[in-house]
Amino acid sequence: MNFNSKLPNVGTTIFTIMSALANEHKAINLSQGFPNYPSSQKLNDLVTNAMNTGYNQYAPMAGNLDLRLAIAHKYELLYKSSYHPEKEITVTAGATQAIYTIISAFVRLNDEVIIFKPAYDCYEPAVEINGGKTVAIQLSAPNYGVNWDEVASKISPKTKMIIINSPHNPSGTIWSKEDMLQLQKITENTNIIVLSDEVYEHIVFDDAQHQSACLFSDLKQRSFITASFGKTFHNTGWKIGYCCAPEALMTEFRKVHQFNVFSVHHPSQKGIADYMQDAETYLGLNTFFQRKRDLFLNLISESRFKFQPSQGTYFQVLDYSEITDEYDVDFAKRLTKEFKIASIPLSVFNEKDKDDKVLRFCFAKTDETLLKAAEVLKHI
Ligand SMILES: Cc1ncc(COP(=O)(O)O)c(C=O)c1O
Repeated sequence: MNFNSKLPNVGTTIFTIMSALANEHKAINLSQGFPNYPSSQKLNDLVTNAMNTGYNQYAPMAGNLDLRLAIAHKYELLYKSSYHPEKEITVTAGATQAIYTIISAFVRLNDEVIIFKPAYDCYEPAVEINGGKTVAIQLSAPNYGVNWDEVASKISPKTKMIIINSPHNPSGTIWSKEDMLQLQKITENTNIIVLSDEVYEHIVFDDAQHQSACLFSDLKQRSFITASFGKTFHNTGWKIGYCCAPEALMTEFRKVHQFNVFSVHHPSQKGIADYMQDAETYLGLNTFFQRKRDLFLNLISESRFKFQPSQGTYFQVLDYSEITDEYDVDFAKRLTKEFKIASIPLSVFNEKDKDDKVLRFCFAKTDETLLKAAEVLKHI
């Protein structure tokens, strides 16, 4: 059979490769971004209870209403920003589906989508399969700061969308209020849609404030915000997330959503809605992960790795340039095979595999795992 791949350049993701290598070599796996400790028992019980009390048929297309109300309440509480639970919030099968659906609802043949590299890996294929073209802006270690003149120079009449991600996977940096104001300014009076991937919104350190797109009134009018309960409630395997946007944008989103997913796992939605009644379940996340970040960094402070403490997310990037000048993919593989510790090389998220000699380590792990990992890293 003959066919042309619609995604000829897409292979197995680095996450799958590194996790497989970690399993094969029985290495400590700090590569893929998921916790190795259990999801909350209370939340598990609430989902079980939802199953036992009849939440077993299709949820409404836009999501269980209790959950949409809880999400709307969260935006009021944290950002004093209102999203109408019936018209402006949709529950999705993880943030990935929200991102894919947003892109396919709006991006047409030859439309341009600006992304910042290193970029999370699901953006580019989604743009490409819908006939669009990504226009990449490469950021550099260690600060990954944005040159807004460069961004302005990349905007063209074909620019349909800009995708942003703060707190940022993989670098662990966050965007400042000034960055958001710059973004607002360059998109003002345009028809550019902003996709603000905020899956790590509750994981921001050192008393910094998460600068959600909804805090900036003009930006909010053109933005989709995507979020992931997997990141917030330590259960990435459940694949429940959501997106919010002004009504006109959300109406278009739902036209696609209703025919590729329709609705997502109902008991999980009801359980999460009940769990979110206590805001501490998400407000406590900063402290929880900051302690883990500090534990990890204190333990490796004497190592030969150089770092700036992660500002957000549950990732820490480490610069290994004092250890070797190997290509980061080779070094990450060698670390896994020889030293039994798996990480993610950053070049795979970069334009033309730019190699800044940095690896990403996930610290959403038990203290015991972090202690073991640090013991290894100290002696490299
Ligand atoms: C930046 C970013 N966006 C989106 C996602 C996908 O989230 P979900 O697992 O809810 O689909 C991830 C997961 O790692 C991520 O890091």
